[in-house]
Amino acid sequence: MEHTKHLWRAGAIAIFLVLTALLVRHLLVPESFGVDGFYRYDSLAEFMNKPVVHGGATSCEPCHSEQFETKMAGSHVSVTCEVCHAPLAQHVADGAKTADMPVMRSHRLCGWCHQKLVSRPEDMPQVDIIEHLEAFEMIPEEGDIPEGICGECHDVHDPGLG
Ligand code: HEC
Ligand code: HEC
Ligand code: HEC
Ligand code: HEC
Repeated sequence: MEHTKHLWRAGAIAIFLVLTALLVRHLLVPESFGVDGFYRYDSLAEFMNKPVVHGGATSCEPCHSEQFETKMAGSHVSVTCEVCHAPLAQHVADGAKTADMPVMRSHRLCGWCHQKLVSRPEDMPQVDIIEHLEAFEMIPEEGDIPEGICGECHDVHDPGLG
């Protein structure tokens, strides 16, 4: 017995560690984890109960048919209204306007998709915004690039010039 004491001690520590690990796991793992796979099953219902904020590609058409038709006829056909403005729910509830829809007039909006970057697909129309504006002598001598500048030549909803 004298000679195996250290083994018993190590064994007791090992059992203690395993029990602690099991207890911690029991306390930390959410109740519905594993019901239907390696995730918390209750999160499905939680996501399904979130309010819907986006209306989708045609949700603006009933009230803004003019902008809708302009956009559908041009190269921005695949860019949904909510990408450049904001989710429908910020603006409309129960079929009526509830608040102003954000309108971003900064060149930065266009730059998200069109500023020249080596990482973009080559067939994406891209410009170096500063060079593009310089070519038309439209960079102010001082101060920021003015709001709405891209819209002076391009119709933001149908930007092609050809
Ligand atoms: C590529 C970005 C972009 C997309 C996509 C877009 N808009 Fe706009 N929209 C703008 C910008 C920028 C302005 C502000 C133009 C200005 O006055 O300088 C604007 C202005 C507007 C206005 C204010 C009136 C006007 O025509 O100036 C309305 C209404 C509007 N958009 C509705 C829509 C609807 C509806 C859609 C989808 C069919 C849409 N927009 C898609 C960028 C966009
Ligand atoms: C139930 C009708 C309705 C729907 C749907 C609707 N709007 Fe509007 N919107 C209005 C009204 C009313 C105005 C104010 C008058 C106007 O400019 O025509 C307005 C104005 C705007 C404006 C100008 C800024 C402002 O708030 O006055 C923008 C931009 C706009 N809407 C974008 C959108 C976009 C993008 C969608 C779709 C995601 C959308 N709207 C869906 C009714 C609607
Ligand atoms: C969310 C991304 C996105 C934003 C923001 C965006 N665009 Fe575009 N734009 C596109 C796509 C996609 C195309 C079509 C590319 C294609 O045809 O392959 C396009 C096409 C264009 C073209 C080429 C037109 C043609 O017919 O040759 C111009 C010019 C343009 N956009 C200007 C603008 C301007 C100005 C703004 C800001 C008001 C803007 N874009 C904002 C995605 C975007
Ligand atoms: C003074 C008028 C003018 C202004 C302002 C202007 N553009 Fe242009 N843009 C043009 C013309 C003209 C073309 C077509 C000829 C060319 O490719 O240079 C063009 C072409 C483009 C193209 C397509 C390039 C291609 O490969 O097909 C994009 C994208 C573009 N512009 C984005 C913008 C953005 C973003 C802004 C705002 C920062 C802007 N433009 C401001 C006149 C303008």
